[in-house]
Amino acid sequence: MALLEIEDLVVYFDIIRGQVQAVDGISFSLNRGETLGLVGESGCGKTTAAFAITRLLPSNGNILGGKITFDGKVLAGSEEELSLSKRKRRKYVDSVMRDVRWDEVSMIFQSAMNAFNPVYKVGDQIAEAIRAHEDVSKEEAKRKVIELYRLVGLDVDRIDGYPHEYSGGMRQRAMIAMALACNPKLIIADEPTTALDVIMQDRVLAEMRDIQRKMGMAMIIITHDISVVAEVAEKIAIMYAGKLLEYGDITSIFERPSNPYTIGLMASFPSIKGERKALFSIPGSPPDLSNPPSGCRFHPRCRYAKSLCKEKEPEAFEVEPDHFSKCHFALDIFNGQMSEVS
Ligand SMILES: Nc1ncnc2c1ncn2[C@@H]1O[C@H](COP(=O)(O)OP(=O)(O)OP(=O)(O)O)[C@@H](O)[C@H]1O
Ligand SMILES: [Mg+2]
Repeated sequence: MALLEIEDLVVYFDIIRGQVQAVDGISFSLNRGETLGLVGESGCGKTTAAFAITRLLPSNGNILGGKITFDGKVLAGSEEELSLSKRKRRKYVDSVMRDVRWDEVSMIFQSAMNAFNPVYKVGDQIAEAIRAHEDVSKEEAKRKVIELYRLVGLDVDRIDGYPHEYSGGMRQRAMIAMALACNPKLIIADEPTTALDVIMQDRVLAEMRDIQRKMGMAMIIITHDISVVAEVAEKIAIMYAGKLLEYGDITSIFERPSNPYTIGLMASFPSIKGERKALFSIPGSPPDLSNPPSGCRFHPRCRYAKSLCKEKEPEAFEVEPDHFSKCHFALDIFNGQMSEVS
């Protein structure tokens, strides 16, 4: 059984003018110890998907459909939850998630800046998190914090520092230490390295990967930079405008991308092998999700788009085992038989 199973998840935000269709029917799964890269441009619903899994959506965000199962436990969409009124649901969700958050699933937030309480020492906050979930003495918790500092490459002398005394990069590492504190089965890392410079990014990612392998946990790395996940993930999910456009085995997808959006993303970031070439950028920008385009949501920006793409949303097509693409022309692209429409 997969560790995490997301089936047809739908998350909309209520806004004054209607609804933002931030996540609109995504499905993926993750086995124990596996890493998945969730990749897409800004505003495509990546963080919303992560907040749905951890049930930390803001109050105007609603899970309107689908099911999330983690380690046999239904975190969203259980019959029991669906039978409750909205007010009772909140309490129910809190009780389900109490035992799951931090111990089983932890999250590295996109803005590490706000993750720590400014009035408490960073080391104490991590120790508190440990003590809230494990029956250990203050001294033991402190010893564990020291271990974690070493693990993530933080200077142990800074343990008694306050969040404002840490640089952005240090806070990011402290956040990673916090996420590791309770040996979770799954870590969701939302843009874990964007606050860091490029050299540091590589180092922190490699270290996270090492720690993850040692501890045998699964990880979801969220990023807009497809090259970041190339060396750390087994699976990749390409998200655009609330939909997963391509999903599956990373080698297969990197070698034979079969969705125009993935091809665009791959051309937009420096090659992993470091070849120097002019970078391409996908024309236009992601749509307003309170009024998304008809048919395939990528069609207005797609250089292969035909009239069918405007009219009908494509189904997920399995172009080869463990490799799915939501594009009417997935197979043609896979077989290299698609020509651009100008
Ligand atoms: N609280 C909210 N209320 C209304 N709309 C929201 C809210 N939070 C996010 N959205 C909208 O939902 C969509 C998805 O946002 P989300 O933050 O999940 O994107 P993302 O892929 O994580 O982007 P980024 O790469 O910039 O972090 C966007 O259109 C965003 O404006
Ligand atoms: Mg985000």
